[in-house]
Amino acid sequence: MTATAESTTSKSAAVEDLFIPEDQVASRREEADSLYKIHITEVDHQWVHVLSEGWASPVKGFMREDEYVQVLHFNSIRQEDGTVTNMSVPIVLAINDDDKAEIEKTGKVALRSPSGDVIAIMRNCEIFWHNKEERAARSFGVTDGRHPYIDEIYSGGDWLVGGDLEVFDRIRYEDGLDDYRLTPAELKAEFEKRGADTVFVFQLRNPIHNGHALLMTSCREHLLEMGYKNPILLVHQIGGKVKADDIPLKERIMQNQAVLEEGVLDPKTTIVGIFPSPMLYGGPTEVQWHAKARMNAGCEYYIVGRDPAGMKHPNGERDLYDAWHGKKVLGTAPGLEKLNILPFRVAAYDKTIGRMAFFDPSRADDFMFISGTKMRGYASRGETPPDGFMAPAAWKILVDYYSNVRSY
Ligand code: ADX
Repeated sequence: MTATAESTTSKSAAVEDLFIPEDQVASRREEADSLYKIHITEVDHQWVHVLSEGWASPVKGFMREDEYVQVLHFNSIRQEDGTVTNMSVPIVLAINDDDKAEIEKTGKVALRSPSGDVIAIMRNCEIFWHNKEERAARSFGVTDGRHPYIDEIYSGGDWLVGGDLEVFDRIRYEDGLDDYRLTPAELKAEFEKRGADTVFVFQLRNPIHNGHALLMTSCREHLLEMGYKNPILLVHQIGGKVKADDIPLKERIMQNQAVLEEGVLDPKTTIVGIFPSPMLYGGPTEVQWHAKARMNAGCEYYIVGRDPAGMKHPNGERDLYDAWHGKKVLGTAPGLEKLNILPFRVAAYDKTIGRMAFFDPSRADDFMFISGTKMRGYASRGETPPDGFMAPAAWKILVDYYSNVRSY
Protein backbone atom coordinates (compact mmCIF):
# COMPACT_ATOMS: atom_id res chain seq x y z
CA MET A 1 0.00 0.00 0.00
CA THR A 2 1.39 3.44 -0.85
CA ALA A 3 1.78 5.90 1.98
CA THR A 4 0.91 9.10 0.17
CA ALA A 5 -2.16 10.46 -1.52
CA GLU A 6 -1.84 11.33 -5.21
CA SER A 7 -4.34 12.35 -7.85
CA THR A 8 -5.94 9.40 -9.63
CA THR A 9 -6.44 10.67 -13.15
CA SER A 10 -2.78 11.37 -13.87
CA LYS A 11 -1.82 7.77 -13.14
CA SER A 12 -4.52 5.69 -14.79
CA ALA A 13 -3.45 3.29 -17.55
CA ALA A 14 -4.30 4.03 -21.19
CA VAL A 15 -6.59 1.32 -22.50
CA GLU A 16 -7.50 0.48 -26.06
CA ASP A 17 -11.01 -0.45 -27.10
CA LEU A 18 -11.61 -2.72 -30.10
CA PHE A 19 -14.49 -0.91 -31.79
CA ILE A 20 -14.42 -0.38 -35.56
CA PRO A 21 -14.08 3.34 -36.34
CA GLU A 22 -17.37 4.78 -37.56
CA ASP A 23 -16.11 5.59 -41.08
CA GLN A 24 -15.09 1.93 -41.58
CA VAL A 25 -18.23 0.24 -40.31
CA ALA A 26 -19.96 0.00 -43.71
CA SER A 27 -17.01 -1.63 -45.46
CA ARG A 28 -16.45 -4.02 -42.55
CA ARG A 29 -20.13 -5.00 -42.64
CA GLU A 30 -19.71 -5.86 -46.30
CA GLU A 31 -16.64 -7.88 -45.50
CA ALA A 32 -18.45 -9.69 -42.68
CA ASP A 33 -21.28 -10.63 -45.06
CA SER A 34 -18.78 -12.57 -47.15
CA LEU A 35 -17.13 -14.37 -44.23
CA TYR A 36 -17.74 -17.69 -42.57
CA LYS A 37 -19.75 -17.06 -39.38
CA ILE A 38 -19.86 -18.86 -36.07
CA HIS A 39 -22.51 -18.65 -33.38
CA ILE A 40 -20.88 -17.87 -30.08
CA THR A 41 -22.16 -18.83 -26.63
CA GLU A 42 -23.55 -16.49 -23.99
CA VAL A 43 -20.22 -16.59 -22.13
CA ASP A 44 -18.20 -15.95 -25.33
CA HIS A 45 -20.50 -12.98 -26.00
CA GLN A 46 -19.68 -11.63 -22.54
CA TRP A 47 -15.97 -12.00 -23.36
CA VAL A 48 -16.49 -10.05 -26.62
CA HIS A 49 -18.06 -7.35 -24.45
CA VAL A 50 -15.07 -7.39 -22.08
CA LEU A 51 -12.52 -7.30 -24.91
CA SER A 52 -14.35 -4.65 -26.93
CA GLU A 53 -14.28 -2.04 -24.16
CA GLY A 54 -10.65 -2.57 -23.18
CA TRP A 55 -11.06 -4.23 -19.77
CA ALA A 56 -8.41 -6.78 -20.83
CA SER A 57 -6.21 -4.27 -22.68
CA PRO A 58 -3.55 -4.75 -24.08
CA VAL A 59 -5.18 -8.04 -25.16
CA LYS A 60 -6.61 -7.39 -28.63
CA GLY A 61 -8.87 -10.33 -29.22
CA PHE A 62 -9.48 -13.94 -28.26
CA MET A 63 -6.02 -15.22 -27.36
CA ARG A 64 -3.65 -16.89 -29.76
CA GLU A 65 -1.52 -19.77 -28.49
CA ASP A 66 1.44 -17.61 -27.53
CA GLU A 67 -0.69 -15.49 -25.17
CA TYR A 68 -2.68 -18.50 -23.99
CA VAL A 69 0.36 -20.43 -22.75
CA GLN A 70 1.73 -17.39 -20.96
CA VAL A 71 -1.59 -16.86 -19.23
CA LEU A 72 -1.84 -20.50 -18.19
CA HIS A 73 1.75 -20.72 -16.96
CA PHE A 74 2.57 -17.21 -15.72
CA ASN A 75 -0.83 -15.53 -15.14
CA SER A 76 0.68 -12.68 -17.15
CA ILE A 77 1.78 -11.67 -20.65
CA ARG A 78 5.11 -10.19 -21.71
CA GLN A 79 4.57 -7.40 -24.22
CA GLU A 80 6.82 -6.47 -27.13
CA ASP A 81 8.44 -3.66 -25.15
CA GLY A 82 9.36 -6.15 -22.41
CA THR A 83 6.81 -4.97 -19.85
CA VAL A 84 4.67 -7.55 -18.13
CA THR A 85 0.91 -7.15 -17.97
CA ASN A 86 -1.16 -9.21 -15.59
CA MET A 87 -3.58 -11.58 -17.29
CA SER A 88 -4.55 -14.56 -15.23
CA VAL A 89 -7.51 -16.07 -17.06
CA PRO A 90 -7.52 -17.32 -20.65
CA ILE A 91 -9.94 -15.43 -22.88
CA VAL A 92 -10.34 -17.98 -25.63
CA LEU A 93 -12.90 -19.02 -28.21
CA ALA A 94 -13.63 -22.72 -28.66
CA ILE A 95 -14.67 -24.03 -32.07
CA ASN A 96 -15.39 -27.43 -33.63
CA ASP A 97 -13.78 -29.33 -36.54
CA ASP A 98 -16.07 -27.82 -39.20
CA ASP A 99 -15.40 -24.26 -37.99
CA LYS A 100 -11.67 -24.98 -38.02
CA ALA A 101 -11.75 -26.19 -41.63
CA GLU A 102 -13.72 -23.12 -42.76
CA ILE A 103 -11.69 -20.51 -40.86
CA GLU A 104 -8.43 -21.97 -42.15
CA LYS A 105 -9.46 -21.08 -45.70
CA THR A 106 -9.30 -17.30 -45.12
CA GLY A 107 -7.81 -16.81 -41.66
CA LYS A 108 -10.88 -14.73 -40.82
CA VAL A 109 -14.23 -15.30 -39.17
CA ALA A 110 -17.33 -13.28 -38.32
CA LEU A 111 -18.98 -13.77 -34.92
CA ARG A 112 -22.70 -14.03 -34.39
CA SER A 113 -24.15 -13.26 -30.97
CA PRO A 114 -26.44 -15.80 -29.29
CA SER A 115 -29.38 -13.82 -30.71
CA GLY A 116 -27.96 -14.10 -34.25
CA ASP A 117 -26.53 -10.61 -34.88
CA VAL A 118 -23.14 -10.30 -36.54
CA ILE A 119 -21.22 -8.45 -33.86
CA ALA A 120 -17.53 -8.77 -34.77
CA ILE A 121 -14.85 -9.89 -37.17
CA MET A 122 -11.73 -11.70 -36.09
CA ARG A 123 -8.76 -11.64 -38.48
CA ASN A 124 -5.24 -13.09 -38.68
CA CYS A 125 -6.68 -16.14 -36.95
CA GLU A 126 -4.63 -18.87 -35.39
CA ILE A 127 -6.13 -22.21 -34.42
CA PHE A 128 -4.70 -24.53 -31.80
CA TRP A 129 -5.71 -27.56 -29.76
CA HIS A 130 -8.09 -27.01 -26.88
CA ASN A 131 -6.65 -29.22 -24.18
CA LYS A 132 -9.64 -28.80 -21.89
CA GLU A 133 -8.36 -30.83 -19.00
CA GLU A 134 -5.08 -28.92 -18.90
CA ARG A 135 -6.92 -25.58 -19.14
CA ALA A 136 -9.22 -26.54 -16.29
CA ALA A 137 -6.44 -27.95 -14.12
CA ARG A 138 -4.17 -24.94 -14.54
CA SER A 139 -6.96 -22.40 -14.14
CA PHE A 140 -8.87 -23.95 -11.24
CA GLY A 141 -6.59 -26.53 -9.65
CA VAL A 142 -9.25 -29.18 -10.26
CA THR A 143 -10.79 -30.84 -13.31
CA ASP A 144 -14.20 -31.70 -11.88
CA GLY A 145 -16.84 -31.11 -14.58
CA ARG A 146 -19.42 -30.14 -11.93
CA HIS A 147 -17.54 -26.86 -11.41
CA PRO A 148 -19.66 -24.31 -13.35
CA TYR A 149 -16.90 -22.82 -15.51
CA ILE A 150 -15.20 -26.17 -16.08
CA ASP A 151 -18.56 -27.43 -17.30
CA GLU A 152 -18.52 -24.48 -19.74
CA ILE A 153 -15.01 -25.45 -20.90
CA TYR A 154 -15.86 -29.14 -21.33
CA SER A 155 -18.94 -28.34 -23.38
CA GLY A 156 -16.89 -26.26 -25.87
CA GLY A 157 -15.24 -27.41 -29.11
CA ASP A 158 -11.90 -29.20 -29.42
CA TRP A 159 -10.05 -26.22 -30.95
CA LEU A 160 -9.37 -22.66 -29.90
CA VAL A 161 -9.27 -19.77 -32.36
CA GLY A 162 -7.48 -16.53 -31.55
CA GLY A 163 -6.96 -13.36 -33.55
CA ASP A 164 -7.45 -9.61 -33.83
CA LEU A 165 -10.99 -8.72 -32.83
CA GLU A 166 -12.93 -5.85 -34.42
CA VAL A 167 -16.31 -5.14 -32.87
CA PHE A 168 -19.15 -3.33 -34.65
CA ASP A 169 -21.19 -1.91 -31.80
CA ARG A 170 -21.28 -1.53 -28.12
CA ILE A 171 -22.75 -4.68 -26.52
CA ARG A 172 -26.16 -3.97 -25.03
CA TYR A 173 -28.58 -6.30 -23.26
CA GLU A 174 -31.76 -4.14 -23.16
CA ASP A 175 -32.53 -5.50 -19.70
CA GLY A 176 -32.98 -2.15 -18.00
CA LEU A 177 -29.44 -2.34 -16.60
CA ASP A 178 -27.38 -1.03 -19.52
CA ASP A 179 -26.91 2.35 -17.80
CA TYR A 180 -24.91 0.57 -15.09
CA ARG A 181 -22.56 -0.91 -17.68
CA LEU A 182 -20.06 1.92 -17.96
CA THR A 183 -16.98 1.28 -20.06
CA PRO A 184 -13.52 1.89 -18.56
CA ALA A 185 -13.41 5.22 -20.42
CA GLU A 186 -16.84 6.23 -19.11
CA LEU A 187 -15.92 5.26 -15.57
CA LYS A 188 -12.79 7.41 -15.74
CA ALA A 189 -14.91 10.32 -16.94
CA GLU A 190 -17.38 9.75 -14.09
CA PHE A 191 -14.57 9.67 -11.51
CA GLU A 192 -13.30 12.95 -12.90
CA LYS A 193 -16.79 14.48 -12.87
CA ARG A 194 -17.14 13.58 -9.20
CA GLY A 195 -13.78 15.17 -8.45
CA ALA A 196 -12.18 11.93 -7.23
CA ASP A 197 -8.63 12.22 -5.95
CA THR A 198 -8.54 8.44 -5.78
CA VAL A 199 -10.83 5.51 -6.57
CA PHE A 200 -11.25 2.30 -4.62
CA VAL A 201 -13.20 -0.63 -5.92
CA PHE A 202 -15.16 -3.47 -4.43
CA GLN A 203 -15.76 -6.48 -6.68
CA LEU A 204 -18.70 -8.65 -5.79
CA ARG A 205 -21.14 -11.22 -7.04
CA ASN A 206 -23.35 -11.21 -3.96
CA PRO A 207 -25.77 -8.78 -2.36
CA ILE A 208 -24.07 -6.33 0.01
CA HIS A 209 -24.37 -7.30 3.66
CA ASN A 210 -23.10 -5.12 6.47
CA GLY A 211 -19.84 -7.10 6.60
CA HIS A 212 -19.09 -6.07 3.01
CA ALA A 213 -20.12 -2.51 3.91
CA LEU A 214 -17.71 -2.59 6.85
CA LEU A 215 -14.83 -3.41 4.49
CA MET A 216 -15.80 -0.51 2.22
CA THR A 217 -16.31 2.07 4.95
CA SER A 218 -13.08 1.02 6.73
CA CYS A 219 -11.26 1.40 3.46
CA ARG A 220 -12.66 4.90 2.95
CA GLU A 221 -11.57 5.91 6.45
CA HIS A 222 -8.12 4.57 5.76
CA LEU A 223 -7.84 6.57 2.54
CA LEU A 224 -8.99 9.74 4.32
CA GLU A 225 -6.35 9.13 7.01
CA MET A 226 -3.78 8.82 4.24
CA GLY A 227 -4.66 12.34 3.13
CA TYR A 228 -7.11 11.82 0.28
CA LYS A 229 -9.94 14.34 0.34
CA ASN A 230 -12.47 12.75 -2.00
CA PRO A 231 -12.06 8.98 -2.46
CA ILE A 232 -14.76 7.59 -4.70
CA LEU A 233 -15.97 4.02 -4.25
CA LEU A 234 -16.89 1.82 -7.20
CA VAL A 235 -19.20 -1.02 -6.15
CA HIS A 236 -18.76 -3.28 -9.12
CA GLN A 237 -21.08 -6.24 -9.61
CA ILE A 238 -20.11 -9.10 -11.89
CA GLY A 239 -22.44 -8.78 -14.86
CA GLY A 240 -21.77 -12.01 -16.75
CA LYS A 241 -22.89 -15.55 -16.14
CA VAL A 242 -22.91 -16.71 -12.52
CA LYS A 243 -23.66 -20.15 -11.12
CA ALA A 244 -27.25 -21.23 -10.81
CA ASP A 245 -27.66 -20.61 -7.07
CA ASP A 246 -26.13 -17.10 -7.10
CA ILE A 247 -28.59 -14.21 -7.04
CA PRO A 248 -29.41 -12.78 -10.51
CA LEU A 249 -27.87 -9.48 -11.56
CA LYS A 250 -31.10 -7.46 -11.53
CA GLU A 251 -31.85 -8.32 -7.90
CA ARG A 252 -28.23 -7.69 -6.88
CA ILE A 253 -28.29 -4.24 -8.44
CA MET A 254 -31.66 -3.40 -6.86
CA GLN A 255 -30.32 -4.64 -3.53
CA ASN A 256 -27.15 -2.56 -3.88
CA GLN A 257 -29.22 0.55 -4.67
CA ALA A 258 -31.34 -0.10 -1.58
CA VAL A 259 -28.14 -0.22 0.51
CA LEU A 260 -27.26 3.25 -0.81
CA GLU A 261 -30.78 4.55 -0.28
CA GLU A 262 -30.69 3.35 3.34
CA GLY A 263 -27.47 5.30 3.82
CA VAL A 264 -25.23 2.31 4.60
CA LEU A 265 -23.02 3.63 1.81
CA ASP A 266 -22.98 7.28 0.78
CA PRO A 267 -24.56 7.80 -2.69
CA LYS A 268 -22.48 10.98 -3.22
CA THR A 269 -19.21 9.09 -3.06
CA THR A 270 -20.34 5.67 -4.34
CA ILE A 271 -20.96 4.47 -7.89
CA VAL A 272 -22.79 1.17 -8.45
CA GLY A 273 -21.71 -0.37 -11.74
CA ILE A 274 -21.62 -3.62 -13.69
CA PHE A 275 -18.44 -5.38 -14.80
CA PRO A 276 -19.31 -7.38 -17.95
CA SER A 277 -17.09 -10.40 -17.27
CA PRO A 278 -18.53 -13.84 -16.63
CA MET A 279 -17.71 -15.27 -13.22
CA LEU A 280 -15.16 -18.08 -13.34
CA TYR A 281 -14.99 -19.19 -9.67
CA GLY A 282 -11.23 -19.33 -10.02
CA GLY A 283 -10.29 -17.99 -6.58
CA PRO A 284 -6.74 -16.57 -6.35
CA THR A 285 -6.27 -16.90 -10.13
CA GLU A 286 -9.46 -15.06 -10.96
CA VAL A 287 -9.06 -12.33 -8.37
CA GLN A 288 -6.04 -11.10 -10.34
CA TRP A 289 -8.27 -10.70 -13.37
CA HIS A 290 -10.81 -8.82 -11.27
CA ALA A 291 -8.10 -6.46 -10.09
CA LYS A 292 -6.37 -5.98 -13.46
CA ALA A 293 -9.60 -5.10 -15.25
CA ARG A 294 -10.45 -2.47 -12.63
CA MET A 295 -6.95 -1.02 -12.89
CA ASN A 296 -7.72 -0.54 -16.58
CA ALA A 297 -10.80 1.44 -15.52
CA GLY A 298 -8.75 3.87 -13.46
CA CYS A 299 -9.15 2.30 -10.00
CA GLU A 300 -6.14 2.64 -7.73
CA TYR A 301 -7.16 0.70 -4.64
CA TYR A 302 -8.64 -2.77 -4.66
CA ILE A 303 -10.41 -4.19 -1.64
CA VAL A 304 -9.98 -7.88 -0.99
CA GLY A 305 -11.28 -9.94 1.89
CA ARG A 306 -11.94 -13.56 2.61
CA ASP A 307 -12.05 -16.16 -0.19
CA PRO A 308 -12.51 -13.85 -3.21
CA ALA A 309 -14.00 -15.59 -6.26
CA GLY A 310 -14.24 -18.76 -4.20
CA MET A 311 -16.82 -21.49 -3.97
CA LYS A 312 -17.30 -24.87 -2.41
CA HIS A 313 -15.48 -27.78 -4.01
CA PRO A 314 -17.95 -29.42 -6.39
CA ASN A 315 -17.87 -32.47 -4.08
CA GLY A 316 -19.44 -30.20 -1.44
CA GLU A 317 -16.91 -31.18 1.20
CA ARG A 318 -14.69 -28.12 1.56
CA ASP A 319 -13.91 -24.70 0.16
CA LEU A 320 -12.17 -25.05 -3.20
CA TYR A 321 -9.43 -22.52 -2.39
CA ASP A 322 -7.55 -21.43 0.69
CA ALA A 323 -9.56 -18.45 1.95
CA TRP A 324 -6.46 -16.22 2.26
CA HIS A 325 -4.53 -17.13 -0.90
CA GLY A 326 -6.46 -14.55 -2.94
CA LYS A 327 -5.23 -11.68 -0.83
CA LYS A 328 -1.69 -13.12 -0.61
CA VAL A 329 -1.48 -13.55 -4.39
CA LEU A 330 -2.75 -10.04 -5.13
CA GLY A 331 -0.02 -8.52 -3.00
CA THR A 332 2.73 -9.87 -5.27
CA ALA A 333 1.06 -10.63 -8.61
CA PRO A 334 3.21 -9.76 -11.65
CA GLY A 335 1.86 -6.79 -13.58
CA LEU A 336 -0.31 -5.50 -10.73
CA GLU A 337 2.44 -3.49 -9.05
CA LYS A 338 0.67 -0.18 -9.69
CA LEU A 339 -2.52 -1.29 -7.98
CA ASN A 340 -2.73 -0.85 -4.23
CA ILE A 341 -4.31 -3.79 -2.49
CA LEU A 342 -6.35 -3.19 0.62
CA PRO A 343 -6.53 -6.55 2.40
CA PHE A 344 -9.13 -7.14 5.07
CA ARG A 345 -9.77 -9.63 7.81
CA VAL A 346 -12.93 -11.65 7.88
CA ALA A 347 -16.09 -9.87 8.95
CA ALA A 348 -18.63 -11.77 11.03
CA TYR A 349 -21.71 -11.04 13.11
CA ASP A 350 -20.67 -9.93 16.61
CA LYS A 351 -23.48 -11.10 18.89
CA THR A 352 -22.32 -8.87 21.77
CA ILE A 353 -22.99 -5.66 19.79
CA GLY A 354 -25.59 -6.95 17.32
CA ARG A 355 -23.74 -5.97 14.17
CA MET A 356 -21.08 -7.06 11.68
CA ALA A 357 -17.52 -6.51 12.89
CA PHE A 358 -14.04 -7.77 12.17
CA PHE A 359 -13.63 -11.21 13.70
CA ASP A 360 -11.61 -11.29 16.90
CA PRO A 361 -10.23 -14.83 17.38
CA SER A 362 -9.62 -14.18 21.11
CA ARG A 363 -13.41 -14.25 21.65
CA ALA A 364 -14.48 -16.51 18.80
CA ASP A 365 -17.66 -17.65 20.56
CA ASP A 366 -19.08 -14.12 20.37
CA PHE A 367 -19.17 -14.31 16.56
CA MET A 368 -21.45 -15.92 14.05
CA PHE A 369 -20.33 -16.55 10.47
CA ILE A 370 -22.97 -15.91 7.83
CA SER A 371 -21.67 -17.22 4.52
CA GLY A 372 -23.27 -16.46 1.15
CA THR A 373 -24.86 -19.91 1.25
CA LYS A 374 -26.26 -19.31 4.72
CA MET A 375 -27.55 -15.87 3.71
CA ARG A 376 -29.29 -17.32 0.64
CA GLY A 377 -30.71 -20.04 2.88
CA TYR A 378 -32.29 -17.49 5.27
CA ALA A 379 -33.76 -15.48 2.41
CA SER A 380 -35.10 -18.51 0.53
CA ARG A 381 -36.84 -19.81 3.66
CA GLY A 382 -38.24 -16.34 4.33
CA GLU A 383 -36.37 -16.21 7.65
CA THR A 384 -35.04 -12.96 9.05
CA PRO A 385 -31.28 -12.76 9.63
CA PRO A 386 -29.98 -11.29 12.89
CA ASP A 387 -30.61 -7.54 13.29
CA GLY A 388 -27.71 -5.53 11.87
CA PHE A 389 -26.77 -8.11 9.23
CA MET A 390 -28.24 -6.22 6.29
CA ALA A 391 -30.22 -3.00 5.72
CA PRO A 392 -33.92 -4.01 5.99
CA ALA A 393 -35.08 -2.62 2.61
CA ALA A 394 -32.15 -4.41 0.97
CA TRP A 395 -33.04 -7.68 2.73
CA LYS A 396 -36.65 -7.39 1.53
CA ILE A 397 -35.45 -7.46 -2.08
CA LEU A 398 -33.83 -10.84 -1.50
CA VAL A 399 -36.86 -12.25 0.31
CA ASP A 400 -39.15 -11.05 -2.51
CA TYR A 401 -36.86 -12.62 -5.09
CA TYR A 402 -36.94 -16.00 -3.38
CA SER A 403 -40.68 -15.89 -2.82
CA ASN A 404 -41.13 -15.30 -6.58
CA VAL A 405 -38.76 -18.20 -7.33
CA ARG A 406 -40.83 -20.43 -5.03
CA SER A 407 -44.11 -19.46 -6.66
CA TYR A 408 -42.97 -20.49 -10.19
S1 ADX B 1 -16.53 -12.58 -5.10
O1 ADX B 1 -16.66 -13.91 -5.68
O2 ADX B 1 -17.04 -11.53 -5.94
O3 ADX B 1 -15.16 -12.32 -4.63
P1 ADX B 1 -18.29 -11.91 -2.84
O4 ADX B 1 -19.32 -11.14 -3.55
O5 ADX B 1 -18.78 -12.90 -1.85
O6 ADX B 1 -17.42 -12.78 -3.83
O7 ADX B 1 -17.24 -11.01 -2.11
C1 ADX B 1 -16.81 -9.77 -2.50
C2 ADX B 1 -15.60 -9.36 -1.71
O8 ADX B 1 -15.87 -9.38 -0.30
C3 ADX B 1 -14.36 -10.23 -1.87
O9 ADX B 1 -13.21 -9.40 -1.82
C4 ADX B 1 -14.38 -11.12 -0.65
O10 ADX B 1 -13.07 -11.52 -0.31
C5 ADX B 1 -14.95 -10.19 0.39
N1 ADX B 1 -15.73 -10.86 1.45
C6 ADX B 1 -16.91 -11.50 1.33
N2 ADX B 1 -17.39 -11.89 2.52
C7 ADX B 1 -16.46 -11.48 3.45
C8 ADX B 1 -16.37 -11.56 4.88
N3 ADX B 1 -17.31 -12.13 5.63
N4 ADX B 1 -15.29 -11.01 5.48
C9 ADX B 1 -14.32 -10.40 4.74
N5 ADX B 1 -14.36 -10.30 3.41
C10 ADX B 1 -15.41 -10.82 2.76
